[in-house]
This record gives sequence, C-alpha cells and structure tokens, in this order.
Amino acid sequence: MERKRVLITGAAGFLGSHLCDRFIKEGYHVIGMDNLITGDLANIQHLFKLEQFEFYHHDVTKFIHVPGNLDYILHFASPASPIDYLKIPIQTLKVGAMGTHTATRWFIRKPRNTGEM
Ligand SMILES: NC(=O)c1ccc[n+]([C@@H]2O[C@H](COP(=O)([O-])OP(=O)(O)OC[C@H]3O[C@@H](n4cnc5c(N)ncnc54)[C@H](O)[C@@H]3O)[C@@H](O)[C@H]2O)c1
Repeated sequence: MERKRVLITGAAGFLGSHLCDRFIKEGYHVIGMDNLITGDLANIQHLFKLEQFEFYHHDVTKFIHVPGNLDYILHFASPASPIDYLKIPIQTLKVGAMGTHTATRWFIRKPRNTGEM
C-alpha cells in the first residue's frame, strides 16, 4: 500500500524533529523542510539514510513546491524562544504570517488534498 505523505516544516527544530521521528515510525513518507535559522541538522541526521525521508533546505516564507501529493502538512517552522524573537523579530513575524499563508495556500491547491488540516 502507498505510504501517506506528510510535509513537516521546522523539521530540524525541537518539535519538528520529534514529529519527523514519530511519523516515520507510524509508516508515513516524511518530507522535512527547514531553513536552519534556529534548527540544527543534527536533530534529523539519523533520518537521512531512510528512503521514506526527504529534506528540503528552504525558507517557507518563499514559494513552496514539493513534487508529488501530500496528505498532511504540519507547520512548525518558527523561532520559539523570547531570545530568538528579540534577535530575529522580522523573520519571526514573517514565518508566522507569510509562512503559514504560503504553506496552507499551496497545500489546498494540491490535487489529492482535501484541505483537511
Ligand atoms: N517548544 C515548545 O515547548 C513549544 C510549545 C508550544 C508551541 N511551540 C511552537 O512550536 C513551534 C516550533 O517550536 P520549536 O520549539 O520546535 O522551535 P525550534 O526553534 O526548535 O524549531 C523551529 C524550526 O523552524 C525553523 N524555521 C524558522 N523559520 C523558518 C522558515 N522561515 N522557513 C523554514 N524553517 C524555519 C527553524 O530553523 C527551526 O528548525 C513554534 O511556533 C513554537 O512557538 C513550541
């Protein structure tokens, strides 16, 4: 049976990396996306050898394209600490507004997707 496919933004971060692990364990094909502004590839390094994992080094506030269908998108890309908010306030605002808009708008347009999130 074809694996369900999930896009996880913020994949190299704290929550995103654990979600990648969990969805791989549940039998999904996981597509991780992250621009590494606060994340660390070391959090997901163990997944790179798996064929059911792909990674895109990409800023989600920019145009998003992932080949193939998606069943779900989990949008966890965002700086998450008050220290980061003060260091990178514009990027924090952009990913919360534009990143959410880019990811959800693109997802709803993909053919297999129902818009269910
Ligand atoms: N950690 C917690 O306990 C907690 C609790 C509740 C809610 N949250 C929320 O969950 C989200 C993730 O939190 P976290 O603790 O995993 O943070 P984190 O900083 O560890 O991870 C966020 C990830 O998003 C990536 N990212 C940021 N901007 C990006 C962009 N424009 N494009 C692509 N990737 C980008 C970062 O590089 C990082 O890997 C935040 O919105 C946070 O507010 C976290």
